[in-house]
Amino acid sequence: MINNSLKYLKEKGYISGEALAQKLGISRVAVWKQIKKLKNMGYKIIADQNLGYCLISRPDLLIPQEIQRELYTEYIGKEIYYFPELKSTNIMAKEKALQGIEKIKEGTLIIAERQSAGKGRLGREWFSPIGGIWISIILYPQLSPSYIPRITLMSAAAVVKAIKICTQIEPQIKWPNDILINEKKVCGILTEMNAELDIINWVVVGIGINANIDHRAFPQDIQENTISLKEVAGKEVLRIKLVQAFLQEFEKHYESLKRREFSSILKEWKLNSHTLGRKVKVDMGERIITGEAVDIDKEGALVLKKEDGKLIKIISGTVV
Ligand code: BTN
Repeated sequence: MINNSLKYLKEKGYISGEALAQKLGISRVAVWKQIKKLKNMGYKIIADQNLGYCLISRPDLLIPQEIQRELYTEYIGKEIYYFPELKSTNIMAKEKALQGIEKIKEGTLIIAERQSAGKGRLGREWFSPIGGIWISIILYPQLSPSYIPRITLMSAAAVVKAIKICTQIEPQIKWPNDILINEKKVCGILTEMNAELDIINWVVVGIGINANIDHRAFPQDIQENTISLKEVAGKEVLRIKLVQAFLQEFEKHYESLKRREFSSILKEWKLNSHTLGRKVKVDMGERIITGEAVDIDKEGALVLKKEDGKLIKIISGTVV
């Protein structure tokens, strides 16, 4: 109903209460209640006794109606669970994914305006205040678990593309999926999955973008290595546009991957790479390997050239 009311409210011009009631097939009192609900959600609406209602502005919230209003995807983001606050969108997404594809469709999103216990990689905390973009996407790819690194890389490529489209800022990707601007982290991706030996049951891709966050707000210990889009752009970014652009890029890449096509994604990833050509240390948990990052192979593994000239492939680790 809210969606329908929004369809008829105009940003330039008024619609009378009577006309709105007619279009929606409800009473004038019910219209008034809808308007009240919208106002509570942050929509600014003027009510004029003679002219009716006029929409003045929309809230800067990632509410499903706003995201879906100009979202050109087939299935990514067609179902959205939205929360002003959650512990972690990934935790919620995993709970939902467990209900299976019949109940929770492929491409369903979980969005929170803030997370009280956001999860980073390797069990770290992820600082997630108001102003950021905290999203998890639920997928059921009919692919082998060996595709997980590729899903992670394609997500990073989609974030970079969306940031470029919406802000003209050119971020870089630190393998496998940290997005950096001026060497500082602006976005992190946490991919979690449930799989059998040869098939994935579900994947949750969690994306955290430091969009409109003031630098001073970051905790001291991450201030030095963290940055937000707002800081770089010098103004707030339109989060809804950024989410829409990201979801569109994401779906394109995901469709390629489902057709087992990875080369164009990899090309895009490499074009924006921060890692390739550098001497790096990769923390693999039980050991650290040093070498020159010479390539990313067709399965998404990092190819390191060690000091003795030997090449080694790394599927998962952290570049430090
Ligand atoms: C990293 O450590 O770089 C990954 C950070 C991932 C953060 C995002 S925010 C949305 C989603 N929900 C979470 O709890 N984590 C991911």
